[in-house]
Amino acid sequence: MTPERVFRHHMIKEIFEQPRALEATIAPRVSLDKGSIRLEECRLIDEEIRRLHRINIIASGTSRHAGMAGQFMIQDLASIPVDVDYASEFEYRNPLIGPCELAILITQSGETADTTGALREAKKKGSKTIAISNVVGSTIAREADGVLYTRAGKETSIASTKAFTAQMAMLYLFALYNAQARATLHDEQLRAHIRQLLELPGKLERVLESAAHSEELAKRYHGVEDFLFLGRAVHYPVAMDGALKLKEVSYVHAEGYPTGETKHGPNALIDEKLPIVIIMTCDRKDPGSLLRYKKSLNNLKGFKNQGGHVIALATEGDEKVSRLADHTIFIPQAEELISPILEIVPLQLFAYYMAVHRGLDVDRPRNLTKSVTVE
Ligand code: BG6
Repeated sequence: MTPERVFRHHMIKEIFEQPRALEATIAPRVSLDKGSIRLEECRLIDEEIRRLHRINIIASGTSRHAGMAGQFMIQDLASIPVDVDYASEFEYRNPLIGPCELAILITQSGETADTTGALREAKKKGSKTIAISNVVGSTIAREADGVLYTRAGKETSIASTKAFTAQMAMLYLFALYNAQARATLHDEQLRAHIRQLLELPGKLERVLESAAHSEELAKRYHGVEDFLFLGRAVHYPVAMDGALKLKEVSYVHAEGYPTGETKHGPNALIDEKLPIVIIMTCDRKDPGSLLRYKKSLNNLKGFKNQGGHVIALATEGDEKVSRLADHTIFIPQAEELISPILEIVPLQLFAYYMAVHRGLDVDRPRNLTKSVTVE
């Protein structure tokens, strides 16, 4: 019996609980031999799924970043148009939704006031509603038409980590469930995607084995006051959440930005004083991933020519990147839409160790609460 590891803070404990959280969220809902996904708990029948015109994902903070990744998963796998909204902004845009739309409210606590308001607005307009929550019996879970529970276990640290990766896994499952109902994927493709999901906990364990590398980088950069996090497509939400984690727990200003947008402004900021974290993994079997990777390689070269300091996240074995970047964090090979669930982990660790080296209260950052129950 391996001795139970003792952790200094809830945040680092919850980061290391992610393989188990993923397993608990994924395993009960898939059957590899049948090549099927079981999500009847969402209470959407196939006929309703086939009639869906659009899905509106609505959330706050880290949960919204999961929704941004979910947009790519659902659009690419189930061919349903998806919009993503800040819960606090949703009602202001007078959303034109009705019975052929589905609102997905993503909320770890199930008690966020902005997200509760958005749920009620969507219901008032006749939209079906599903909650993705980590707390059984929470307000939003009770009021939505259906609920998909992540099974990450209690998340205590104000900065969300294991709930976030579990939310993205749940969105991937939901995308496959819709693909199954709309027959946008055939059995063999479904099995291949299910296999990718079942391999996730083991791959995440491997990422956690190099936690010391993130700690070493945090020691090196703990005095820095500004960071730029960059990612393209489904990796942009990871850049956003890496930046949010750093802001939340280490009080360092950090901005998440689409890599392709740096030439429209942020490039003016880039010099040796502004470290860049760029996510540039590559699924070489995916032509779109390869194209985006090549563009990011050019960005990397440009940042280095500008005297920029670059920490790159790359796919294991990618020596092209490690030769160019100042530091490279390697991520196990995974399908493009799955890789965000792995890529966020070194960034969670980096933010954690930055806060520790800055002597801050990691689990209870100033001015923040775990669930914001006021609008
Ligand atoms: C913030 C938390 O207060 O609320 C974030 O610090 C979280 O971690 C956000 O992502 C949304 O909370 P919830 O519970 O609706 O996911």
